[in-house]
Amino acid sequence: MFSWCKMMKSQTIFAVAALVGLGFVGTALAQDYQRPSVSGIGSVPSEAQIAAWDIDVRPDGLGLPIGSGTAELGEEIFADRCAQCHGDFGEGVDRWPVLTGGQGSLTEHRPEKTIGSYWPYSSTLFDYIYRAMPYGEAKSLTPDEVYAISAYLLAENEIVERDQVLNQDNFAQIKMPNQANFFADDRSKSEAYTERCMTNCKTEPVTIVSAAPELDVTPEDE
Ligand code: HEC
Repeated sequence: MFSWCKMMKSQTIFAVAALVGLGFVGTALAQDYQRPSVSGIGSVPSEAQIAAWDIDVRPDGLGLPIGSGTAELGEEIFADRCAQCHGDFGEGVDRWPVLTGGQGSLTEHRPEKTIGSYWPYSSTLFDYIYRAMPYGEAKSLTPDEVYAISAYLLAENEIVERDQVLNQDNFAQIKMPNQANFFADDRSKSEAYTERCMTNCKTEPVTIVSAAPELDVTPEDE
């Protein structure tokens, strides 16, 4: 190879050869990842393995597994599996997360962001519980149990009725109270928007008018 390169003094031919070489390596790598016997890296996942990971639920309901449950049933499961951290009514034990209440607090000095006051989509509730809870025992709940627990938490947040049956068809239609406050960033279309200056912007020298210690933004130690 070396002597062959020396013979071909033309840089162009060398560059083309190098590119072809890189392309070849790229293709070979991509194929090797799919052929573990060749590369020894990983293995091709089985259908069952992919299905076990493919559990995301989207705001439009895509991905919700078949199942159903009500708050009445969910209350029992919640008491058994969740209440030791989140409290019997989702009020939160010690410093574990609060799951209920907080409605109307978002504009206050200390907003209480809960699934009821803050979360924009019910699908996230299902997805999160099914994927991550109970803490330390993730993925131990059946879809029916997650529908029931979600129904209980939604009822405690006064978003659904206690006897309402939630299932794969109606779950994503639940309207969360704070949904309207989540929207695509539209600042470039708002009236206040002005095109950013990127060169020679400052015509006058900069003067510092205040500093953080003077503004006193950091709370004092008790
Ligand atoms: C051992 C304590 C523990 C148990 C039991 C537990 N959780 Fe949690 N939960 C947590 C912790 C810790 C977090 C925060 C995790 C994080 O932020 O990464 C959390 C977060 C959550 C959240 C998201 C809260 C938010 O606003 O971000 C929900 C919803 C939730 N848990 C539901 C449940 C449900 C339903 C169960 C029972 C099936 C359960 N949890 C059991 C500790 C627990």
